Amino acid sequence: MSNRTVLTGITTTGTPHLGNYVGAIKPAIKASHSDGVLSCYFLADYHALIKCRDPEIVHRSTLEIAATWLALGLDTDKAVFYRQSDIPEISELTWLLTCVTAKGLMNRAHAYKAAVQENVEKGEDADFAMTMGLFSYPILMAADILMFNAHEVPVGRDQVQHLEMARDIAQRFNHFFGDHFVLPEAVVDDNVAVLPGQDGRKMSKSYNNTIPLWLPEKKLRKSIMRIVTNSLEPGEPKQTEDSALFAIYSAFANAEQRAEMKQAFADGIAWGAAKQQCFELINAELADARAIYEELIADPDRIEACLQEGAQRAREIAAPFMRELRDAVGIRPLV
Ligand code: TRP
Repeated sequence: MSNRTVLTGITTTGTPHLGNYVGAIKPAIKASHSDGVLSCYFLADYHALIKCRDPEIVHRSTLEIAATWLALGLDTDKAVFYRQSDIPEISELTWLLTCVTAKGLMNRAHAYKAAVQENVEKGEDADFAMTMGLFSYPILMAADILMFNAHEVPVGRDQVQHLEMARDIAQRFNHFFGDHFVLPEAVVDDNVAVLPGQDGRKMSKSYNNTIPLWLPEKKLRKSIMRIVTNSLEPGEPKQTEDSALFAIYSAFANAEQRAEMKQAFADGIAWGAAKQQCFELINAELADARAIYEELIADPDRIEACLQEGAQRAREIAAPFMRELRDAVGIRPLV
């Protein structure tokens, strides 16, 4: 029987890349196989609307991310895998939480403050291009988490403040209406590599330095060949520190392979040869899953059915809990 709930969401605004795989998807799928926890993973398509007004991107990204998690072996018998927008209780809860959330709390959100700051620096009005979606984003995220009374929420460092806000909001609701919510905790795994991109900065869509996860073999090789190195010649010893290539290789290597590559660097391996080995290692890890991914992407019905099943399981938890919460705030039948 599961006694702890682990939950995380993936915003559906892009194509999965190697950084997502190493930093989030792989550890989450591994965790989903462990006993004694209920894992809830969902596609945060409402969150996508905050950043993206291109319906085709939101739609395509939802398909690609779902196919990715399934191709990589997410155990959907164990984990509850669903699309946020299939759970109407989440938007309902968002409103109940909005009504207890202090505006001042939202004013302090890093993402919102950064957007204001950017406007001010450009000489614009502080509210320029600001939407209520961006401003209230942490409330929607709190609803995602509190709806399932998650204990642990694996996230990146940039999301820790949102977890603090979710706790704050939960506490306020509990204070007014009784003890309904578990106070969730952020789990930030410092052992999980932050993968550099081709230019050495963190691999991120915003830096345009990503290597998409499901590139066909030839393109994957090309993309790895483009990782920035320096001008040291074959035979000249090379440093592993500060090497994006070594960091990317390491994220896929076992301890022995990593030590061998470190030695090869010291022995002056040619950059081209090191890149070839990096390509082969990554390709070997992804090749089987890539074939499954291609099959799934070509069969959206199968993915949709899987998400519907996940939604049904999620709503078995969310619907009765929502009835309890509505009752607690006084929204209930008259007789
Ligand atoms: N905001 C998260 C991100 O950008 C995604 C997300 C939405 C999420 N809802 C969540 C993560 C609930 C954890 C729990 O990465």
